[in-house]
Amino acid sequence: MTKILIFGAGGVGSIYALILWRAGCEVTAVCRSNYHEISSNGITVRSKKWGTCLTPTNAVRSAEEAVQYGPYDYILVCSKAFPNTAKLLNPAVGPDTTIVLAQNGIGIEAEYAVVYPNNTIVSGVVYLPTTQVEPGVIEHGTPLERFEIGTFPAHADASSKDKVNALVELFRMGDATCVPYDDIQAQRWYKLALNAAFNPITALTLCDDANFLRSSEGALEVVKDVMREVGKVATAYGYGSVLSEETIAEQTARHEERMTTGGKEPSMLVDVRHERPVEVEAILGNVVRLAKVNGVKVPFLSMLYTLTKARNFAIVKDGGWKPIARVD
Ligand SMILES: NC(=O)c1ccc[n+]([C@@H]2O[C@H](COP(=O)([O-])OP(=O)(O)OC[C@H]3O[C@@H](n4cnc5c(N)ncnc54)[C@H](OP(=O)(O)O)[C@@H]3O)[C@@H](O)[C@H]2O)c1
Repeated sequence: MTKILIFGAGGVGSIYALILWRAGCEVTAVCRSNYHEISSNGITVRSKKWGTCLTPTNAVRSAEEAVQYGPYDYILVCSKAFPNTAKLLNPAVGPDTTIVLAQNGIGIEAEYAVVYPNNTIVSGVVYLPTTQVEPGVIEHGTPLERFEIGTFPAHADASSKDKVNALVELFRMGDATCVPYDDIQAQRWYKLALNAAFNPITALTLCDDANFLRSSEGALEVVKDVMREVGKVATAYGYGSVLSEETIAEQTARHEERMTTGGKEPSMLVDVRHERPVEVEAILGNVVRLAKVNGVKVPFLSMLYTLTKARNFAIVKDGGWKPIARVD
């Protein structure tokens, strides 16, 4: 039986637990704040696609505790994409474990490749609108579910490509959509453009996507300018065809429609509202650094990065944060 470890049983991790359990896998989940609920009751998913489902899961609190249910064929990293997460998996990673990153952002794979040079690393782009509404209870409110995956690096050996194809087959058996790509980075750049624009803009303005777009005449153009900058950086890395005026318009169209159907809050805005750390490095910091390496000017992204870092600084309150001192 294929053994799966889900690291981070929030919105995405819980639904991937359900899919892989339906495919006949044994599923273990490293949980944090929802550990007690999942260890007592399993994971409940209320889905527009699959209905209400209960997933029996071995719940553990750390990779150390997860060792008892291993060795793992796949570890799916479904926590938010924060730096220095790779080492947390260490006790549960065996010689044949494939590490799958189911996270937003760009440039997030390198730390895993450094810590686990002999393991297959799979990079994944997630299209799955989902939220944990109470501990261990997940809403999947639109039937969209698509997981795009490929090896990191793209030119990996045949056995790594086989592991990608085997995961695609497990998703199919679990009644879900997983699509393999020879070079997944193109898909990452495509999704990053939208995330790098709408996530920080809505998080900083506290407007949902529709309210931001209706807030001023220039709002849509600012979103597109940020996306064009991501396109410039993608071009410098050989992914020039991914972000054109047409594909940018195709991506923003869904958000423009929401001006009539009702706005949505991107995850970074939701995190800010709940005073939770935001994925500032994965979504903005890495692309700004990649731009700098290649001499690409990205003033919009640099501004958003600096402001979002400050927003995060005020939430996390570490690294030199000082209590507010007023001088009257
Ligand atoms: N949700 C979506 O609609 C969606 C769509 C596309 C892409 N994504 C991307 O998918 C990734 C996952 O997002 P999500 O929405 O599923 O996040 P989420 O709901 O916040 O879930 C993350 C889970 O990881 C847990 N976690 C974090 N650090 C941990 C640790 N050290 N040990 C154990 N558990 C840990 C969190 O526990 P706590 O509750 O204790 O913090 C939480 O349960 C992100 O990169 C996101 O940008 C999300």
